[in-house]
Amino acid sequence: MNAESRTRLDRTPEWNALAKHRDELGEVHLRELFADDPGRADKYTVSVGDLHLDYSKHLVTDETLRLLRELAASADVAGLRDAMFRGERINTTEDRAVLHTALRAPESAVIEVDGENVVPAVHAVLRKMQIFTDRVRSGEWKGHTGKRIKNVVNIGIGGSDLGPAMAYEALRAFTARDMTFRFVSNVDGADLHEAVRDLDAAETLFIVASKTFTTIETITNATSARNWLLTELRAGEDAVAKHFVALSTNAEKVADFGIDTANMFEFWDWVGGRYSYDSAIGLSLMLAIGGDRFREMLAGFHLVDEHFRCAPPEENVPLLLGLLGVWYGNFHGAQSHAVLPYSHYLSKFAAYLQQLDMESNGKSVDRDGQPVSWETGPVVWGTPGTNGQHAYYQLIHQGTKLIPADLIGFARPVEDLQPGLVAQHDLLMANLFAQGQALAFGKTPEEVAAEGVPAELVPHKTFKGNHPTTTILASELTPSVLGQLIALYEHKVFVQGAIWNIDSFDQWGVELGKVLAKRVEPALTEGADVPGLDASTAGLVARYRELRGR
Ligand code: F6P
Repeated sequence: MNAESRTRLDRTPEWNALAKHRDELGEVHLRELFADDPGRADKYTVSVGDLHLDYSKHLVTDETLRLLRELAASADVAGLRDAMFRGERINTTEDRAVLHTALRAPESAVIEVDGENVVPAVHAVLRKMQIFTDRVRSGEWKGHTGKRIKNVVNIGIGGSDLGPAMAYEALRAFTARDMTFRFVSNVDGADLHEAVRDLDAAETLFIVASKTFTTIETITNATSARNWLLTELRAGEDAVAKHFVALSTNAEKVADFGIDTANMFEFWDWVGGRYSYDSAIGLSLMLAIGGDRFREMLAGFHLVDEHFRCAPPEENVPLLLGLLGVWYGNFHGAQSHAVLPYSHYLSKFAAYLQQLDMESNGKSVDRDGQPVSWETGPVVWGTPGTNGQHAYYQLIHQGTKLIPADLIGFARPVEDLQPGLVAQHDLLMANLFAQGQALAFGKTPEEVAAEGVPAELVPHKTFKGNHPTTTILASELTPSVLGQLIALYEHKVFVQGAIWNIDSFDQWGVELGKVLAKRVEPALTEGADVPGLDASTAGLVARYRELRGR
C-alpha cells in the first residue's frame, strides 16, 4: 500500500473518537471508577494459560475499550497478525517473513515460507540441540584434554545474549546446579575477563551466538576466547572443535571463523534477533535446564500464540495490553512504561523487554516511509519491584509523569527454599499488592489531615493516585509460564507496531553507530585521519590518545 492509499492513523475517525473520549473522561479518578462499578475488578480480569491479569486499575471504561478495539480493527491488526502467522513477508524493509511463532509450533503444523514448510527444519534443529545437550550434561561430550564440560560461556549480544541470559536467570531453579553458565556480550574486555578468569579452560564450552556472525562485539570476544582457550590448554587449533559451537544463520562465516559447521546449530532469516531465544540461540538455556524443560517453555509460548491468533478481540489479552499502551502513549502523553517484577529471578526481564520493545517500535517513519505524526514505542524500563520501591517509586507516586506499569508476581516461590525464606514470599507479594493499591487510589489530603498531620505537611504526604497498573499473577515461575509471559509481550509489541503502522521487525537505527565505530577505531589506535570527523569528536579522540600516551 502506498502513502496515498492509506489514511493516516491520526486522521481516522477511530483516532478522533478516542481523542474526543479522552477529553470527555478528563481527570476521572480510579476511585470514582471503582465506586461506580462494584463489579469492575471481576469484569476487568482475564486469564490466558496460567497468567491471571487484572487490568481494572487502568484509566478506562467499557467505552474506552470499545473505541480502542475499533482503532485496532481500522488498523487491521488482525489482518497483519494473520499474515505474520502465514509466513508472509511483513518485514517489508528487509523483505523477510516474521515467523518466531513457527519456532514453537508443534511438529504436525504446516507453516510455509516461499512454498516450503519450515516446521520440520525447526524440529530437526531442536532434536540436534537436545542430543548435544544430553551429551554435554551426561559427560559424554569431552573437552580436548578428556575432561567433561562443567562451564558454558555464551558469547553474543542483543538478541543473541539478552534472551538466554534473562531466561537462565528466570529459570535458575531448574538449572543444572553443578554447572556454571556465563554470558558475555560487551566488547569491553572486562566482560570476557571476568567470565573466564576462574574457569578451567579444559572444562569450558564456548557458544558463539550470532545470527549474522558478523557482529563485531561477538566476533572480537569469540576470537579472544579462542586465544584464551588455546593459551590455557597449550594446544593447537584442533582443540577448538571440542570447545566451540556456533549458533547462526550464516554457515559460511561460521566456517571462516574456524568452527566446524557440524557444530553449528542453525536458524533462519525469518527469526528476528530479538525474537530468537526459543531458536538455536537458546542452546545455552537448554544446556542449563535440559531439553524437556526447554520444550515445556516452547509449549508455553505456543499456548499464547494460539490465544493471540484465535481469541476474539474482546478476550484477546496481547491485543488488550497493546491497546492500553496506545491509550497512554497516544492519548495521555505517557513517555515510558515500567515493568516491575516481584521476583528476584526476573532481574533481567526488563532489560530483555527493552530490546524486544524499543528495537521493534522505536521508529519514526511508517511502513510507507512517511514520517509519523503520532508517538510510537515508549521507553521501557524497570527492575525487581521491591528494590525499585526504595529507589524510583517516589517519582512514580508523587512525580509529575504518568508512568503506566506492569506488576508481575507469583503465588509460590519456585525454588525449594528454607522455611524462613518461604515465609518471606508473603512479604514480597504483600509489597506488590500494596503498591498496586497505593498507585491507583493514593491518599487524599483529607485522609492525611485526619491522621493529625500538620497542615503544612499535608501536600507533601498526599498521594494523588490514579497511576495505572496491570497486575500479572501466576502460580509459579516455571519454564511454561516464562514462555507464556514472553509471548504475551512479543504480541503486545506486535499489536502496537501494527496500530502505529511501523515496521516492528527491522532495526536500521543501530547501523549508523556501527559504521562510525569502525571508522573511528583507526583514529584511536593509529592516529589516522578520519575524514569528516566533527570538531567535538576529534577533540575527544585527541584527548583519549593523550591519556593513553599515544
Ligand atoms: O543491535 C542490532 C542487532 O542486529 C540486534 O537486532 C541483534 O539482536 C544483535 O544486533 C546481534 O546480532 P547478531 O545475532 O547477528 O550477532
